[in-house]
Amino acid sequence: MSPTATMIFLSLQIIISFLFTATASSSPPGGFTIDVINRRSTSNSSSSSRFSKTDDGELGSPYANTVFTTSEYLMKLQIGTPPVEIEALIDTGSDIVWTQCLPCLSCYDQQAPIFDPSKSSTYKEKPCNEDPNNPCRYETHYADQSYSKGTFATETVTFQSTTGQPFVMPETTIGCGHNNSLASAPAASGIIGLARGDSSLITQMGQNFYSFFSYCFSRKETSKLNFGSNAVVSGDGTVSTTMFTRTEKPIFYYLNLDAISVGENRVETLGTPFYSLEGNIIIDSGTTYTYLPDSFCNKVKDAVDSVVKVAREPFSGDMFCYKTADTEIFPVITMHFSGGADLVLDKYNMYDNTGDSYCLAISCVGPTEDAIFGNRAQNNWLIGYDTSSELVSFKSTDCAALY
Ligand SMILES: *[C@@H]1O[C@H](CO)[C@@H](O)[C@H](O)[C@H]1NC(C)=O
Ligand SMILES: *[C@@H]1O[C@H](CO)[C@@H](O)[C@H](O)[C@H]1NC(C)=O
Repeated sequence: MSPTATMIFLSLQIIISFLFTATASSSPPGGFTIDVINRRSTSNSSSSSRFSKTDDGELGSPYANTVFTTSEYLMKLQIGTPPVEIEALIDTGSDIVWTQCLPCLSCYDQQAPIFDPSKSSTYKEKPCNEDPNNPCRYETHYADQSYSKGTFATETVTFQSTTGQPFVMPETTIGCGHNNSLASAPAASGIIGLARGDSSLITQMGQNFYSFFSYCFSRKETSKLNFGSNAVVSGDGTVSTTMFTRTEKPIFYYLNLDAISVGENRVETLGTPFYSLEGNIIIDSGTTYTYLPDSFCNKVKDAVDSVVKVAREPFSGDMFCYKTADTEIFPVITMHFSGGADLVLDKYNMYDNTGDSYCLAISCVGPTEDAIFGNRAQNNWLIGYDTSSELVSFKSTDCAALY
């Protein structure tokens, strides 16, 4: 889920003392793993899975017979003292860690009780410009119209690792949101931003010690999120590609997509405006589908259409949907990331069952929109982010069978 441009930081100084607090915590040395909850919801419109993209209004009624699936991955964490459990979306496409907070100016329905900072002994509003009477406000907007507005605070955040040991991060900067809207509500209490940026959870864990995280998203109920040494992705079948930063959008993890193969037909980004040597697609755990710019996307869609022998559903608009129950009729899709990271995707990664048809889980966007490698395509891949050597590694894995 990628934030739009409006993000107001009244304080530029975020003190990173977390490297030291992290090592003093009660975590097992080296790393830890936490459980991830997969929540799927269905809707009539594919726009609900467009987390990272502003709705262009093209969609809606043409989809009356089509049910699209949105996959969200959430983690439990505890905030405050005494600790209160919340559930938040895991989002590599944004940086702020926020939760809904009392008192609400406007809150959406969530499953867990809303966090009440007045009941926590460790909650401290974060002053702006070191002026204790001037709490620092934040405002973050996401491309799917979700937003959160509130006050930055420092608070104790606790993660329950799968070994039963808690990992405690005192004085973590969180956004305490008093006016919030989440397009996929009700469910999550907030969002855990894992992108780059000072207020991201990863940055706050400390660059030197915890510069690694990885996840493995399954189709079933539970998946895993790993930090530190638990997050190393290695062994047979592991492929890696370089991550890039772009100055105009510095929080995102950009990868460089060289080509997509549709069966044996390799469609190159070279020769299209999408071609880049410095990162052309954002890897995002908070967006369901994959988004590609028209110039390249239409070539990929045409390549799929030329292989599939069933007629395309006329109502499906810019989505490519086919009335069939048989995924065998679809070509295998391979994503070729720079440096030889070729991801041969499963049919499930690329074809979404929408009732009585299957739709290609790729959407074409305009040239100024972000290209996004979404979580549907990442399903059943163990994906490691190494922010110290700027590599993303992929290993084909049955995520439900892990651990
Ligand atoms: C689709 O939308 C209509 C009208 O909003 C609603 O009545 C119907 O239940 C929806 N169908 C599905 C499968 O979500
Ligand atoms: C909450 O924020 C929205 C979006 O900016 C705004 O329209 C609305 O008036 C705000 N609500 C309150 C109660 O402040």
